Amino acid sequence: MKFGTKAIHAGVHPDPTTGAIMTPIYQTSTYVQRSPGDHKGFEYSRTHNPTRSQLQDALAALDNGKHGLAFATGMAAIDCIVKLLQPGDEVISTNDLYGGSYRLFTKVYQNYGIKFHFVPMHDMTAVEAAVTERTKLIWVETPTNPLLNVIDIAAASAVAKKAGALLVVDNTFSTPYLQTPLELGADMVMYSLTKYMAGHSDTVMGAVIVNDDELHQRLSFYQNACGGTPGPQDCFLVLRGLKTLHVRMQRHCENGRKVAEFLKAHPKVEKVYWPGFEDHPNHAIAAKQMRDFGGMISFVLKGDRQADAVACLEKFQLFSLAESLGGVESLSGHPATMTHASIPAEERRKAGLSDSLIRLSVGIEDADDLLEDLQQAIG
Ligand SMILES: Cc1ncc(COP(=O)(O)O)c(C=O)c1O
Repeated sequence: MKFGTKAIHAGVHPDPTTGAIMTPIYQTSTYVQRSPGDHKGFEYSRTHNPTRSQLQDALAALDNGKHGLAFATGMAAIDCIVKLLQPGDEVISTNDLYGGSYRLFTKVYQNYGIKFHFVPMHDMTAVEAAVTERTKLIWVETPTNPLLNVIDIAAASAVAKKAGALLVVDNTFSTPYLQTPLELGADMVMYSLTKYMAGHSDTVMGAVIVNDDELHQRLSFYQNACGGTPGPQDCFLVLRGLKTLHVRMQRHCENGRKVAEFLKAHPKVEKVYWPGFEDHPNHAIAAKQMRDFGGMISFVLKGDRQADAVACLEKFQLFSLAESLGGVESLSGHPATMTHASIPAEERRKAGLSDSLIRLSVGIEDADDLLEDLQQAIG
């Protein structure tokens, strides 16, 4: 089945009791049993809920994976993955990643005796150099947030396999429309469903997709034991969003290209970060592992001054200044003070993240209006 057909049909089925074509919102905490232990597969909604089950199946199908697990937030999904580790274990992560992931790793799990190495993963020799006999997890985000570096998933998988470590890919920026990491050797794919997958900036949720049955069992245990599960209404919203994922992503990519090219040609723009450019340092890997280049773009104005970036952000009319990304509407952000403020300034600079960097989530509006907004804001 092709991707667009799967986005609409895979994992879901008409409601067995009424024939409702859309998965109902099973707004219930518990399920009546005929006799103790004799039930219809549902006992308590933290453990299982029919709306969540269909979402989990749909998510697994889109990533060509076997099992999906849904969480109340993307952070709860990441938290569940890190719970697989023991004190003394080590993690290698990209040094250019979502600030919230960095905060969870360094401010929470480091205190539990887990060690994190942050390296520029677009250079795989840096990953290999950080491997020790305690390396248990390799954490990839690609393209990275917010510098749009592209990490070679197949090469990271080879390093992980040699080290006996699990490879996780945070696929939030790409979605399975653009890349399917399990097919490139990843053990787990992780999402903030809040973004492109739900797609309408109206819900916060996360997910993990895996193939391995034992890994699925371990993650399911923590999903239930720790309880970071989503409610059925949110699952319904993501299920609805997934049905248009392919159409939205196609337009995000088309608009992304137009915006990136406009910015690159603008005399007041110093640098544009977008993996679709042939001169992007990781373009060849992006072209190999991605089906298109997405709608996330970062740029720096000439002079590299934070005050100019702030003035530009204040002038946007359509690119609303807000946290998050991946919704139908265009958003702008200032990573240094917003999404990435939890990364210390020195670490940000080391990763090449300037305090004047502007990040855009290009929406699916008419591209001409977006270019006009950029023109008036940049001046
Ligand atoms: C790449 C990435 N991963 C994970 C997260 C965390 O997800 P959530 O905000 O749904 O908890 C985000 C949120 O911005 C993100 O951008």
